Amino acid sequence: MPIDFSIIPSPCFVLDEKLLRKNLELLNKVQIDSGAEIILALKGFSMYRMFPMVKKYLSGATASSLNEARLIVEEMGCLAHTYCPAYKPEEFQEILGYSSHITFNSLNQYKLYKEEVEASEKKVSMGLRINPQYAEVSTDMYNPCVIGSRLGITRELIGDKLPEGIEGLHSHTMCENDSYVLERTLVHIEEKFGDLLHQVKWLNLGGGHLMTREGYDHAHLVSIIKRLKSTYNIEIILEPGSAIAWQTGYLRSKVLDIVDAQGVDVAILDISFAAHMPDTLEMPYKPKVWGATDAIPGKPTYRLGGMTCLAGDYMADYSFEKPLNIGDTLIFDDMIHYTMVKTTTFNGVGLPSMGIWHEDDTFELVKSFGYEVFKEKI
Ligand SMILES: Cc1ncc(COP(=O)(O)O)c(C=O)c1O
Repeated sequence: MPIDFSIIPSPCFVLDEKLLRKNLELLNKVQIDSGAEIILALKGFSMYRMFPMVKKYLSGATASSLNEARLIVEEMGCLAHTYCPAYKPEEFQEILGYSSHITFNSLNQYKLYKEEVEASEKKVSMGLRINPQYAEVSTDMYNPCVIGSRLGITRELIGDKLPEGIEGLHSHTMCENDSYVLERTLVHIEEKFGDLLHQVKWLNLGGGHLMTREGYDHAHLVSIIKRLKSTYNIEIILEPGSAIAWQTGYLRSKVLDIVDAQGVDVAILDISFAAHMPDTLEMPYKPKVWGATDAIPGKPTYRLGGMTCLAGDYMADYSFEKPLNIGDTLIFDDMIHYTMVKTTTFNGVGLPSMGIWHEDDTFELVKSFGYEVFKEKI
């Protein structure tokens, strides 16, 4: 049965449980076929209500802060792979307690915390984030290999041998890429760090592997991973965020007003691009709206406006078959990754609710947010 949006409050992020399971099944197949570990990057999707399902299929999760590491332990029941650009001394002990793997972004950080890691009762595997100085990411905002990037250590800073106790390397340079980008990236990783790969137990190839996008060549990825495992005798870890929640749900919204802005028809919605889907402005990209196309001359066409006072809080332009009316429902597609994790209450706008359309075609309202959330954080 299709999702019945009429019973869902507006605005609301709606996760489609069966679509998430479909993605997880596919990712698990890649794990089984390749022997790699695939873990969820919480920064892309941290709706912990779904962690029990994620845990059934994936090997765990990766954290980029104390809060994410703690959430993994509390809600997924496993230890985190943790990487932060820099750790705060007052948080490090607690992070260690939540982690099975700790990756350092610099040799300074490694030196600062090495003894603390070694002194901990629990064995935590230490790694270094490397910068292979190669990425196929067109937006600088998402490119960790731009000149001057603070993310990762370039080869010349590491000597011939890895620092004592380092068991893994971590490279994250991809963003919504396919296995062929990975293959070309590996040329640079192996050229620069190949000798060190013989010295480690694991290689974490970061996120950006969009394995759940239609057309992704899984057999090619599997062959790459198998080759790496056999050449270097190492574990391979992939930590995608987007791929897990890719096309698994929607943002339901409503038209609040329609204004004539010097000849431009603007539909003002009960959501905000800036506050609820900031990637649409930052990346930027134009989200799909059900029943709408890019502007077509002659068809009813609207700029969709957000409900904050930010002048740029809008998306242009969408054409519809019929004119829009106040009160109409608009459904934004593919709104589960990097949305809920990035929302703000800028302008005091309320956060959309969160819900799940279950596999048995029932709707569960997981959370709604009121004044308290806004007041708490300002
Ligand atoms: C270190 C690291 N790992 C994993 C990810 C997840 O990437 P994606 O959601 O593109 O798969 C990111 C995203 O920024 C990241 O910085």
